[in-house]
Amino acid sequence: MGMYICVCNAIRECDLRKAARRHGGDPEAVYEILGKRPQCGQCFEEAEEILLEERAAAIGGAFAAA
Ligand code: FES
Repeated sequence: MGMYICVCNAIRECDLRKAARRHGGDPEAVYEILGKRPQCGQCFEEAEEILLEERAAAIGGAFAAA
């Protein structure tokens, strides 16, 4: 269970976070990787924040492990 980030495509926050760690690109690109097509675009701002957050965390983790 989790909060839906994108209501149009039923993309959950947890799924977006997972995808963010594996793929680059903006929300549109990541949605496409998930097999979803951006629709209303209302979620982009929030999605973008999550992508940035996850990638920052991933970089932090890589440094911590080094
Ligand atoms: S809520 Fe994501 S495209 Fe509409």
